[in-house]
Amino acid sequence: MDITKAKLDLLDMTLPAAIALDFGGARHTAYAEHCAARGTPVTIVDANIPRVPIAPSITVVRGNFADAGFLRGAVKPAELGIMYDILLHQYGPLDTLRLMLAYASDAVCIGQPCLSPARSSPEESMVFLPAVPLHRQADLVPRFQDGIYGDKGFFQPDAYTCAQWLWGIPPALLRCWVEREGWTIAAERTVPYSPGWVWWGCYATR
Ligand SMILES: C[S@@+](CC[C@H](N)C(=O)[O-])C[C@H]1O[C@@H](n2cnc3c(N)ncnc32)[C@H](O)[C@@H]1O
Repeated sequence: MDITKAKLDLLDMTLPAAIALDFGGARHTAYAEHCAARGTPVTIVDANIPRVPIAPSITVVRGNFADAGFLRGAVKPAELGIMYDILLHQYGPLDTLRLMLAYASDAVCIGQPCLSPARSSPEESMVFLPAVPLHRQADLVPRFQDGIYGDKGFFQPDAYTCAQWLWGIPPALLRCWVEREGWTIAAERTVPYSPGWVWWGCYATR
């Protein structure tokens, strides 16, 4: 199974919904489009706007979804929250997850590249990637990036933004966060990703 199929599979467990919020959905609009095609209007919340035309039932709200004040003024809670490939880019992933979960009333689909359980510590701790020294990045850099580039490495210590990889989070930790926020994980998908990483995602209900 590939990652796109895993993301669509998890969505299909909950669609159609009355309305969905797709956090970070502007870069790849395929998931919002899938919802729209299955009769679910979607609001994408993203710092960027889609580069391709989108279905009329998809709305785009531009801004920082990690900012509680922005979200309060910009969007209303929706039945379904979609959070694909975004938490690893947030300054405070648990805080942002908690915020986004509060905007989903019934169901969420969450997933992203995660540190492989095989390489995580027994305590399932997460790794702040820009703190990994350059000489130790080689075995952590996702292979699709073709190894370390430039003289600053892939996880740059001095230029971190929410466009970069900030966190290596093991699936068990993400699962724990979701459950501790009061959600029940109904299905999970794990897809091989890159040495040291898996793509892990879940569908959860309140
Ligand atoms: C790696 S892409 C993921 C795209 C899509 N969800 C997917 O699964 O393929 C991350 C997207 O999230 C957006 N993003 C990341 N952090 C954000 C934030 N705090 N506020 C708004 N947009 C953010 C980026 O602009 C980008 O469009």
